[in-house]
Amino acid sequence: MRNLRECVLIDGVRSANCRAHAEKGWFRNMMPDVILTSVYSALFDKVKKIKPEDVEAVYVGTSNQSGCQNELARFSWLAGGFPESVPQNHVNMQCPSGMAATEHAARAILADEGDIYIAAGVEDMQHVPMGHSMEWPKRLFEKYNMNDLMMGVTAEKVAEVYNISRKDMENMAYWSNMKAAQATKEGKFKREIVPIEGEKEDGTKFMVDTDQWIREDITMEKMATMQSPFKPGGVVTAATSSPLSTGAAAMLLMERNLADKLGLSYHLKYVAGAMAGCDPHVMGIAPIPAVKKVLARAGLKIEDIDIWELNEAFCSQALAIVRELGIEENAPFKNVNIWGGATALGHPLGESGCRLSVTLNTIMKTERKDARYGCATLCGGWGIGNAILWENVHK
Ligand SMILES: CC(C)(COP(=O)(O)OP(=O)(O)OC[C@H]1O[C@@H](n2cnc3c(N)ncnc32)[C@H](O)[C@@H]1OP(=O)(O)O)[C@@H](O)C(=O)NCCC(=O)NCCS
Repeated sequence: MRNLRECVLIDGVRSANCRAHAEKGWFRNMMPDVILTSVYSALFDKVKKIKPEDVEAVYVGTSNQSGCQNELARFSWLAGGFPESVPQNHVNMQCPSGMAATEHAARAILADEGDIYIAAGVEDMQHVPMGHSMEWPKRLFEKYNMNDLMMGVTAEKVAEVYNISRKDMENMAYWSNMKAAQATKEGKFKREIVPIEGEKEDGTKFMVDTDQWIREDITMEKMATMQSPFKPGGVVTAATSSPLSTGAAAMLLMERNLADKLGLSYHLKYVAGAMAGCDPHVMGIAPIPAVKKVLARAGLKIEDIDIWELNEAFCSQALAIVRELGIEENAPFKNVNIWGGATALGHPLGESGCRLSVTLNTIMKTERKDARYGCATLCGGWGIGNAILWENVHK
């Protein structure tokens, strides 16, 4: 008999991640509210015992909550015909927004505020580009040169400070694409990707069920010729950056005793989450303190974590993290992003923090059934990071 309340992940799904490109993006004529509610519908289809009206609340992470992403959590729920009685909370923590949303839901369950929550993340970087409508407090300019805090510029800085070579980054991007292509070919993402209608470049309609960016034809030779768009003579290129993307992900979280009572199966239990801050000039390394914090909270060490989902916003920061934390040294990694990372799978900002846990769940249910602890982590603009820890409790 368990006395304390526990939160378990019943299931998680996501859309494919598509290019946020007005001519080439497969979701270019699809709006983010439709993508998000398609993902919710698929989640309820998978977990038939739970109806939308059973949900206590929905937390949705989005990094840029302007334009068609303004109040998207509530608007999409209503527009999708879901019950008015269920409230939404639109969460913003830059790229870790979807992870913050997950933690809010998990903590609400642990705090006995409710038993059933949806945690989601969504971002459409085509219709709401990065920085769109963003106004910075004037005092920030007294403290920082804002040009130094642009995401790609910080990725260049991380490469310099942490001594990450261009070749190692390209090697990482190569393996990320190879692994993502292989996993896709073997149908590993089929359990989590919800097919949603999109359009090919020539306008033909089709059901999008694979991530768009993955480059099977990536070569070290071609990558070596690419220029940095962020700094003259820089080392970070489009190949070693996550692409501008569109996508949504959602998970159903539940109080464990209730899940057992309803006979719902699950694999992952929420152990802890931790946010951390760092110097915004090297925002990409914020997962280092976040992971240290989350492990300390759980009384665990790096060696206790069997599997990692680490957002590759840029290969420079992702490599700095795996090395500084002593996880691994170079790609191909054994236990990090084993089905590829964001340089291949895409990074729709607010979606990714949720997508990482969705994928971790799929991996720990299938290829890595023996893994006990899984950790997902990502950085966010202006120097914030988040890490979440899950334990496989499946019997
Ligand atoms: C890097 C970045 C500026 C490139 O944007 P872009 O100039 O619009 O470029 P695209 O994504 O359209 O790619 C441009 C071209 O690069 C080339 N390219 C990219 N990756 C490649 C690879 N691995 N191999 C070969 N060519 C590649 C291709 O020619 C591609 O165009 P194509 O596929 O249409 O032929 C943009 O993706 C970016 O800003 N990424 C980071 C996003 C970010 O900051 N996220 C937040 C993190 S905290």
